[in-house]
Parts: sequence; structure tokens; C-alpha cells
Amino acid sequence: MERTFLMIKPDGVQRGLIGEIISRIERKGLRIVAIRMHRITEDVARRHYAEHVKKPFFSSLVDFITSSPVVLMIAEGENAVAVMRTISGATNPLEALVGTIRGDYGLDVGRNLIHSADSLESAEREIAIHFTDSDIVEYTKAEETWVYE
Ligand code: RTP
Ligand code: MG
Repeated sequence: MERTFLMIKPDGVQRGLIGEIISRIERKGLRIVAIRMHRITEDVARRHYAEHVKKPFFSSLVDFITSSPVVLMIAEGENAVAVMRTISGATNPLEALVGTIRGDYGLDVGRNLIHSADSLESAEREIAIHFTDSDIVEYTKAEETWVYE
């Protein structure tokens, strides 16, 4: 089982898509093991997106992600990192396939609704930024024998 880090970005919250996005994660069969609504500070935003510090879009990305509350989550499941990247869709919603969150709801690369960690290493780094161990619950769901062989 892998754990991945997810964030419903400010546009997803403001557009009333929290339930829709969480539904897709649940219906895929992943298990949400931590969830919190939060207003990200500038310091945390800069640490979260540190890999992009030199990119031209960095300051607008930090402004955007701190502009309104977000929903932070950890999801668990087999290949959870790759599965969530697939469900999320390509970074630019214009290139994201229909059926993905970005492909179905987005129109602008700077308003692409969801963040999901791009590797196990990133997931671990991001989980450590946004959550502590006591935020994470360990449990199984009865449906899992019907999700995994
Ligand atoms: P994220 O980290 O937010 O899940 O998105 P990602 O992995 O698909 O894309 P990444 O390359 O990590 O970029 C982070 C966020 O920066 C914005 N961006 N803008 N204007 C641009 O060319 C541009 N490129 C990236 C996007 O909002 C992207 O989600
Ligand atoms: Mg990224």
C-alpha cells in the first residue's frame, strides 16, 4: 500500500467541487486516511512548491494557493501515487483527458483544481509538511476485498 498527498485547491473549494472530487477518490477504491480544511500560509506554500521557486509562475502559484481555503488529504491504496495522478489528469486542463478531474472541470493551467504528489518521495515530503502522525487514521474498509484481488 502507498500513501499519496492530495490538495483540493482554492478553485475546487470555491466552485463547490469538494464533494465531487472526494467522490471520485472514494469510488476509485482509495482509502482517505487524513483530511483537513485549511488556509495555507505563504511560508507553507513556498515550501510545498519549493521545486518551482525559479519558475516564472511561482509567485502567482503561491498567491493562488494561499488565496482561499483548501482541502488537504492523504489517500492510501495500491499504487496510490500513480492512480491519483491519472485521476487528476494532465497539468494543463486543455490537455487533460475527459474523465479526469482537470479534464472535466478545468480550463486554465493556473486553475487546475487538484494537486497530487508526483512520486512516493514527493508524497512523503508533502505529508510531512501538512500533517503530523496523529492526524492519520489506520483502518480498513469492508469493500476492499471487492476492490483488490
Ligand atoms: P501540482 O503540483 O499542482 O499537482 O501540478 P502538476 O504536478 O501537474 O504540475 P507542476 O509542474 O508541479 O506545476 C505546479 C502548478 O503550477 C502551475 N503551473 N503553471 N503557467 C504555467 O506554465 C504553469 N505551469 C505549471 C499549475 O497550476 C500547476 O498545477
Ligand atoms: Mg507538481
